[in-house]
Amino acid sequence: MKINLIEKNIKKIKSDIEIIIVNSCDNLKDKVILDTLGFEAKDESVILLAESKKIYVGCEDNDYDSVAIAIASALKKFQSTKFKSVKINLENLSLKAIVEGSILGTYKFDKYKSKKEKNKKQELNICVDKITNKIENTLNESIIIAKAVNKTRDMVNTTPEDFYPQIMSNIAKDIAEDSNLQCKIRGEEYLDNNGMHSMLSVGRASRHESKLIHLAYKPKNAKKKVVLVGKGLTYDSGGLSLKPADFMVSMKSDKGGGCTVLGIMSTVEKLKLPIEVHGIVGAVENMIGGDAYKPDDVLTAKNGKTIEVRNTDAEGRLVLADCLCYAQDEIKNIDYLFDFATLTGACVVGVGEYTTAVMGNNTNLKRNIVANALDSGEYATSLPFNRFLRKAIKSDIADICNMANTRYGGAITAGIFLENFIYDEYKQKWAHFDIAGPAYVEKPWGYNPYGATGAGVRMAIEFLKNIEKK
Ligand code: BES
Ligand code: ZN
Ligand code: ZN
Repeated sequence: MKINLIEKNIKKIKSDIEIIIVNSCDNLKDKVILDTLGFEAKDESVILLAESKKIYVGCEDNDYDSVAIAIASALKKFQSTKFKSVKINLENLSLKAIVEGSILGTYKFDKYKSKKEKNKKQELNICVDKITNKIENTLNESIIIAKAVNKTRDMVNTTPEDFYPQIMSNIAKDIAEDSNLQCKIRGEEYLDNNGMHSMLSVGRASRHESKLIHLAYKPKNAKKKVVLVGKGLTYDSGGLSLKPADFMVSMKSDKGGGCTVLGIMSTVEKLKLPIEVHGIVGAVENMIGGDAYKPDDVLTAKNGKTIEVRNTDAEGRLVLADCLCYAQDEIKNIDYLFDFATLTGACVVGVGEYTTAVMGNNTNLKRNIVANALDSGEYATSLPFNRFLRKAIKSDIADICNMANTRYGGAITAGIFLENFIYDEYKQKWAHFDIAGPAYVEKPWGYNPYGATGAGVRMAIEFLKNIEKK
């Protein structure tokens, strides 16, 4: 949907229909008919009055979430019509919420539908008092961000047959070309030669070669250096510790962290961020077969630490361990080191499917990340490490075990596992984002459709945008 900013009195803008976001029906011209039709100004309630050419949508608050959900509901209604243009008066609404809510809320994934919906070429006209530079920048920025979220959704929604490590690498190369980024793709020979046997083992039974993707954006006079690492399990069958049938469905989403990193990397140049940003993705498929890695194996990671495998379904941490080592070995003087992963089912149980859990050793950093996430329109909370959970991943035969010896705190013990691969100088600069819940939800919620959501993209960009203030 094309979005236009127009500097005019709303009454003078020619559009087929108008969206009105309301928190009460009092004083509305259409109050009587709205009452008669049973419309209430509640969140997610929407009605189209054909005669007065208006779409009324309820919205109980003025925050990002409420406004983005309201505009998404209204535009879905608009999309179901044959009208070509719709207008809205910005007034005191957040432009960011309107623009992002519009683009995110009208996203559709029809790659696998034999009948595709025609692009109806519909337009949204946003009416403002005055088009200032600030308003224009917000519009452009919001469009870049929302498109990156949709691009991430497209990748995650793509089936494992159509999206395996080589495909992920090709997409990374395209992003690099489009945004002038450096791009290195490493195959299994590199992993072998560089002692990355933890990651290498996970992909061994797959017919697809594992890939380590490394994108880099290096503007002149960069003020900070940030490294983003993503879990890119293009499919997680669980390996020999095979997932039960019901739990395997949706595991195409296990590449969510990696896709989020690619989505973020597709924006850094367009947003002209004054920081160096690296995106590293471990793209691997976790399968079964005669060559599969096994529970009981002991693997050696890039930093020399040995890992007892007790469950081949706890594979994400094995891939990330080596990718995190690679990041710290290859890139000097990192200011922030973040990893994004659909890492644990326990996280979804703990904080619900809509929220990202942020972990790490730096309380201020975690607080800052959560605040930025909420500002960006995403839900996040922080989870705490402690000394007793640290003991839960001790191994009797190796340095560390890939599964905790307790049923409790699985999201945290996975985070603690990763902490073991963070070098001392980066312990305070690292944060782990478990996006297992929000990356992929099998029902629509707010402006998110069924399936992939692009979780992590907006929160990370918000953090990067505000980095100079830190
Ligand atoms: N990819 C899964 C985690 C997951 C679960 C993501 C549900 C999204 C939705 C991960 O690799 C996994 O299987 N983790 C295990 C760890 C356990 C074996 C220690 C889990 O969470 O059960
Ligand atoms: Zn798994
Ligand atoms: Zn997994």
